[in-house]
Amino acid sequence: MTAVTTGTPAQAPSVGTGHTRVEGRDKVTGAARYAGEVPFAGLAHGWLVLSTIARGRISALDTEPVLAMPGVLAVLDHRNALRLETDYTGLMGMRPDPTWAVFQHDRVPHRGWPVALVVAETSEQAREAAEALVVHYEQEPHDVEFTGERPDAYPLDGHMPAVTQKGDLDAALASSPVVVDAEYTTPEEHHNPMEPHAATARWDGGQLEVIDSNQGVTWVAGELANLFSLDPASVRVRSEHVGGGFGSKGVRAHQVAAVMAATVLQRPVRVVLTRRQMFSLAGYRSPTTQRVRLGADTDGRLRALEHSAVSATSTVYEFVEPSAGVARVMYDAEAHHTANRLVRLDVPSPTFMRAPGEAPGSFALEAALDELAEKCGVDPIELRLRNEPDKGPVSGLPFAGRNLAACFREGARRFGWADRDPRPGVRRDGRWLLGTGTAAASFPAGAAPSTAAATALPDGTFTVRISAADIGTGARTALTLVAADALQVPPERIRMRIGDSAFGPAMIAGGSMGTRSWSWAVRAAAGELRERLALGADIPPEGITVRTNTAEAIAALPPAERHSFGAQFAEVAVDVGTGEVRVRRMLGVFAAGRIINPLTARNQLRGGMIWGISMALHEEAVRDRASGGHVGADLAGYHVATHADVPRVEADWIDDTDPDDPVGIKGIGEVGIVGAAAAIANAVWHATGVRHRALPIRPDRILSAAAGAPDA
Ligand code: MOS
Repeated sequence: MTAVTTGTPAQAPSVGTGHTRVEGRDKVTGAARYAGEVPFAGLAHGWLVLSTIARGRISALDTEPVLAMPGVLAVLDHRNALRLETDYTGLMGMRPDPTWAVFQHDRVPHRGWPVALVVAETSEQAREAAEALVVHYEQEPHDVEFTGERPDAYPLDGHMPAVTQKGDLDAALASSPVVVDAEYTTPEEHHNPMEPHAATARWDGGQLEVIDSNQGVTWVAGELANLFSLDPASVRVRSEHVGGGFGSKGVRAHQVAAVMAATVLQRPVRVVLTRRQMFSLAGYRSPTTQRVRLGADTDGRLRALEHSAVSATSTVYEFVEPSAGVARVMYDAEAHHTANRLVRLDVPSPTFMRAPGEAPGSFALEAALDELAEKCGVDPIELRLRNEPDKGPVSGLPFAGRNLAACFREGARRFGWADRDPRPGVRRDGRWLLGTGTAAASFPAGAAPSTAAATALPDGTFTVRISAADIGTGARTALTLVAADALQVPPERIRMRIGDSAFGPAMIAGGSMGTRSWSWAVRAAAGELRERLALGADIPPEGITVRTNTAEAIAALPPAERHSFGAQFAEVAVDVGTGEVRVRRMLGVFAAGRIINPLTARNQLRGGMIWGISMALHEEAVRDRASGGHVGADLAGYHVATHADVPRVEADWIDDTDPDDPVGIKGIGEVGIVGAAAAIANAVWHATGVRHRALPIRPDRILSAAAGAPDA
């Protein structure tokens, strides 16, 4: 990093102080425009037609009557669609998911597969015509049933190796005086952001412009250039405001369909997904079945650890939910086996969903640790402290900071853990049984190459450009604070421009790596600009611009286990007469690097923890075996935690500045959900004495468990 060498009196730092969102006023007054709202002259509207069968092929589409309907301009399907290039490798080595590459063949691999796009003058006309389009199918028997016992499950390397093995597991288990052997399941879960997916595409003088809602404009632009065989320089994607993403807003069918229609019709075309369509086209988290086997000494020290996970994917794309990965970071044992396996079903392709792998994986692993604590008669926090590894259990690499123990100590103090009676089922408040539980959290901390530009203007203000995405995280505000400190000016003098692929390549808002990766580049550009200005340069009308690329600096980072950590605490009340579970309070204490903006950071961490409540008690997409589709594919049928479900949720952090990061950041986007569901499930055990190993912990599951329990 460049040192600042001028004699300017130091400005009070902006990083670390609470700052409301710089675009907050625009958002609450409606001035901020979202992708589905940007006006265009001559805009046409596309409406996707989705398959009503789960497997087979399209035998005919009766397009003639639909083309005669009012306002209808075109029907695109596999017979007349533009041919797309799908043989390429994109971001992070990922192959294009055929679900995006719309209308290329007559096969239907799942219910809700895009079979046609109807384009009309108005959105209403397009919808009317799309719903009138008769599609004939040759239907085949489908299989959508997920279980962990399927013999066709196979190991698959996703963004990590499928299998790791160290030591003789069976021997270590056989020689362990205490053994936990349990199976945990999590259901199919959906990350439906408030703002539906929406894209508008238009051609303008040989340039393709797409107004979109996504987590990475250069990512989407690159994929579109590949799919349509375009010069990357001729594709510009903008995504200024994003109403939530959570992993669902990458490249999806609607952008490709909009670009195809705009190309065919040579006029701007907008495609917006409905809430219902999002359930088959926006991706989701696969259900998981996880077996955890732990062998330990009587004092709780692990000798054997096995974490074996199975998830599902579609028949057209291999996406693995790597739930067993979390065990490779958290705990060591002389025999240590982990595996992620996959089964292929006639279902939509799953995708990244907040803390992919860690969210379901931590439920199983941290619940199993709680079972081990019970069996050993060791306090759950003490058990974890006894099993703190001094290096990566699988990698053998040193930890670049592992402040988990400090999180537990601080969390225990604030939560009042010392007063806890370890016996289950002994605390009561009227009809409620009360319990408390805890769990550990971790999530990888990384940075990826990004470019940024900082411009000094003659009026004393600065413009910073980076193709970052603010998907509700507060990234735009955080970057403003980082730039302000690097320039040693108040944040009000910075104009932060993001969400435009014309600003050059940058990391996506993903993997909890966005703000860290972008801050690195922004700080470098702004710091270098300040040095230039310190030399007393005259600022011309167009300003002075400094551009940076962090690729080299990031490649020079020494290999290490780099993660954020956290300790989750929950108190629940359970009515075993009605089956109702209420979370009374939660506390999360995190070691997640330097916190840029406490206001939005707390928001991020609490959001993750609240999702943990949702995951523990509510969320479950029910797939109908007969139709292959969902029962209740909307936010009435798919239950999420709402205000009435969310009590006092407190998130805080300890000082954990990352010495290897120029700003000290690790990343906070995902760690908040990790371990949250386990803490709640562990609290339900403490309240009732019954282990619930299947999520969500529904009232009927409490009731049937209570019916079999001796003291129910
Ligand atoms: Mo996140 S699941 O990397 O958007």
